[in-house]
Amino acid sequence: MCGIVGYVGDRDAGDVLVKGLKRLEYRGYDSAGVAILNGQMSIQKGKGKVVNLEKLIKVNGVKGNIGIGHTRWATHGEPNDVNSHPHLSESGKVAVVHNGIIENYGSLKKKLSDNGRTFKSQTDTEIIAQLIEEIYSKSKDISFEQAIRLTLKQIVGTYGLAIVNIEEPGKIYIARKGSPLLLGIGDNEMFIASDASPIVEYTNKVVYLDDGEMAVVDRSSYEVKTIEDVSLTKEVHELAISLDEIEKAGYPHFMLKEIFEQPKALADCLRGRINPKKGTVQLGGVADVMDQIVKANRIVIAACGTSWHSALVGEYLFEYLAKAPVEVEYASEFRYRDPLIGEGDVLLVISQSGETADTLAALREARERGALVLGICNVVGSTISRETDAGVFTHAGPEIGVASTKAFTAQVVVLTMMALELAMRKGTITKEKAKKYIKELDQIPGKVEQILKECDETTREMARLFTYAPNFLYLGRSYNFPVALEGALKLKEISYIHAEGYPAAEMKHGPIALIDEMMPVVVIAATDHTNDKMISNIEEVKARKGRIISIMNKENSDVEELSEFSISIPSTYDCFSPLLTVIPLQLLSYYIAVNRGCNVDQPRNLAKSVTVE
Ligand code: F6R
Repeated sequence: MCGIVGYVGDRDAGDVLVKGLKRLEYRGYDSAGVAILNGQMSIQKGKGKVVNLEKLIKVNGVKGNIGIGHTRWATHGEPNDVNSHPHLSESGKVAVVHNGIIENYGSLKKKLSDNGRTFKSQTDTEIIAQLIEEIYSKSKDISFEQAIRLTLKQIVGTYGLAIVNIEEPGKIYIARKGSPLLLGIGDNEMFIASDASPIVEYTNKVVYLDDGEMAVVDRSSYEVKTIEDVSLTKEVHELAISLDEIEKAGYPHFMLKEIFEQPKALADCLRGRINPKKGTVQLGGVADVMDQIVKANRIVIAACGTSWHSALVGEYLFEYLAKAPVEVEYASEFRYRDPLIGEGDVLLVISQSGETADTLAALREARERGALVLGICNVVGSTISRETDAGVFTHAGPEIGVASTKAFTAQVVVLTMMALELAMRKGTITKEKAKKYIKELDQIPGKVEQILKECDETTREMARLFTYAPNFLYLGRSYNFPVALEGALKLKEISYIHAEGYPAAEMKHGPIALIDEMMPVVVIAATDHTNDKMISNIEEVKARKGRIISIMNKENSDVEELSEFSISIPSTYDCFSPLLTVIPLQLLSYYIAVNRGCNVDQPRNLAKSVTVE
């Protein structure tokens, strides 16, 4: 949420910052701005996209070799020019960009106003610039670094910060608590960013800042310390992503690219982890704790949004294959509920970004209570992946489109492998059965590819017909109930059509009242053991003139006959079907959103990684 970028070196800072902000725009896109030092402090900022900022910098001819930039997802104060970052201290000498929320900003603002400081914006960030200056200007004995440190001690909340001071024109100060920041080490140049995407084209050497740390950076060196002023030696990591992965590669949107990348993403996720010939699964990341997982009293899975939907699929998989008791929690509820979790329990958190604030807080809560904490993350080096006791990366490649697609299917693949490994260890499935499952799992990337080939045109046509439907209902049973939730979420978040997902049988307990000839009902009827029940539900919808769109198995002519539109997918085991049924739903929502002229990759009000509560 919100993106930060910083640069010091020989290049034109405006160019580097704008390029970086474009790559970070998926994190927030209400407004954008930069502070560039060039003998003076030049602030360029405004409401709207980074392209507006780019024009502004060009028109005003701003040049310089050091600067900080920000793309904003508004928390405090509406998105407008004044509330855009960077924010300045009263003298204009200190500029700050900030991700996160300062919870005690009201009282600090009052104190600073009482001291005679005037504020320009409604943001919580402005108080940081003002407070640093207030402390710095009070005594000649206090260095700028100390003033930052003293400020951080007074503020309550979360932050990723980049700060420049006109009196120290070669330095950028950064600090982190709850909002990610990393430092890219170049050849006589340094980069700062809230994730790796703006850095990757310049260097693959990075240092991740941890919570409670700050750093002072110039073109040739950096020094990381704790906020308590203890010097640290940080490990230099090598970035695993490449530039190609974060570009659109000819697709009109990242979301479409990422939908079509799924065969490769899933194959990458499976690679080296399953052996279809031998019928084995080996997840290196959790190998050392597998015994503890086998013996766990219970497994709780916590996540948010789409990752929560994959957790629900995981619950079905763990219970069916490994006979393991599983509860799925919204991370935001789990953390505030005084949860009954402790030694002998396992908390598994799932997060594409690895930075979601609520998921991170759930992890910390469970760890404090003595549970073993595991993670499934896509972003290597992310906070969640670093804070868990053990975990498995999805290796789906960078997901830039705000609506999650390939991360969901990759998460389900990891959960499937985990459930299978657990089942084999526990002896809840036979070796022969496990081998069949693993063989089929190996076929899934190919089947996804087949669906993408065969369904693209049909979903496009369906999308044309339903583009202006005001509501959608999604129904599924068993493994495909979470897919119904996911299909509805995909549609509402990118097309702004109201959509709800329901377990099909629950329809009779309320939502059936909504059904008339205006209501498209997407039925996911590809789970064999509930097929007859699903057919009854379809009949109930039809009797009320609802318009049936079905996702069904190729062999299932009953469903096809009852549907106004149907999309057939290759058959697989029931427990693997979410990996296939979700694909046409992703395409359907994508094409509807495009037809409606929506900004698919950057839907209104959303941000890719939600680093505030
Ligand atoms: C929906 C979507 C969000 C995320 C949620 C959790 O398409 O992307 O619902 O799934 O914000 O994010 P992660 O998985 O990064 O923790």
